[in-house]
Amino acid sequence: MAQVPLHSTGDASRLAALLLIQILPVFSIVAPCQPGASPVSVQRGTCTTGCYHRDPFVAAGLQTRREDTVDRVRARPTPQKRPLKTLERVLSKAGVGSRTEARSWIHAGRVTVNDEATRNPDQWVDLQRDRVRFDGKPLEVRERVYVLLYKPTGYLTTYKDPEGRPTVYDLVKDVGTFLSPVGRLDLDTSGLLLMTNDNGLAERVTNPESHVPKTYLVKATPALTDEHLQQLREGVELSDGPTRPARVTRVRDSETDTHFEIVLTEGRNRQVRRMVEALDANVLELVRVKLGPIAIGTLPIGKWRLLTPREVATLR
Ligand code: URA
Repeated sequence: MAQVPLHSTGDASRLAALLLIQILPVFSIVAPCQPGASPVSVQRGTCTTGCYHRDPFVAAGLQTRREDTVDRVRARPTPQKRPLKTLERVLSKAGVGSRTEARSWIHAGRVTVNDEATRNPDQWVDLQRDRVRFDGKPLEVRERVYVLLYKPTGYLTTYKDPEGRPTVYDLVKDVGTFLSPVGRLDLDTSGLLLMTNDNGLAERVTNPESHVPKTYLVKATPALTDEHLQQLREGVELSDGPTRPARVTRVRDSETDTHFEIVLTEGRNRQVRRMVEALDANVLELVRVKLGPIAIGTLPIGKWRLLTPREVATLR
């Protein structure tokens, strides 16, 4: 790079200002963002409270953060280097109970990390290094359980609903351990829902980078043209970015609607519904019939079965 000589005090002060801008983020990382602060300058990444975001996307003006996520994002330790999880998540993923239950047990002082009591469910834990105990007992490695549920419409993919609506936990009982759903199906979506206490497998299946195909049967109205289906294949623009190419096959049509199959390799919130809405159409029925190579088959609606070891192996 060419060296630019300093000719005047003006140049010197510009250099000093430049250095300050480079150094400032390094020091200001220790000063937390104030709750409710909003970025006043996307370019500089500064907040209304004067702190500084080191996030390269914010600093480069490529993407603004939602105001309420600023603190949460900054509080998170360096991602991915070590398998860090919040204590609450560690307990629920170990099959001990739901996240809500885990929080209350932690608040009640029943959990220790490295022999020290903690009442903070959001404490970061490194399972390779930290020893977590519940009621004095180490979190045992539980037998892995994999349940395939045929979720009916009208059931929430959540543990408890404040409004008291039915949840998938009303259908999956007596499995001897707490299972978490692998991804979600909307209230009005039916079909294959995998539930497990194998956190590693769940993360692999839901990570879009794993490209695990999810197959849906869709009934959409009004009837869709070939161009519409081609748009779904190539990808449509959604509020959270364009969708990946998808496999789409027309199944049948009536005057008012089209049945088609779509295979997605990502699993965004309400993705199929939003893709169809992007074509100015609506989903009338949505059923997930396959996850990877595992099909819902002849399982009756509302019932569940265990995955076979061979099926589990296909998801690893
Ligand atoms: N896409 C949706 O729109 N909803 C679901 O439940 C699953 C995929």
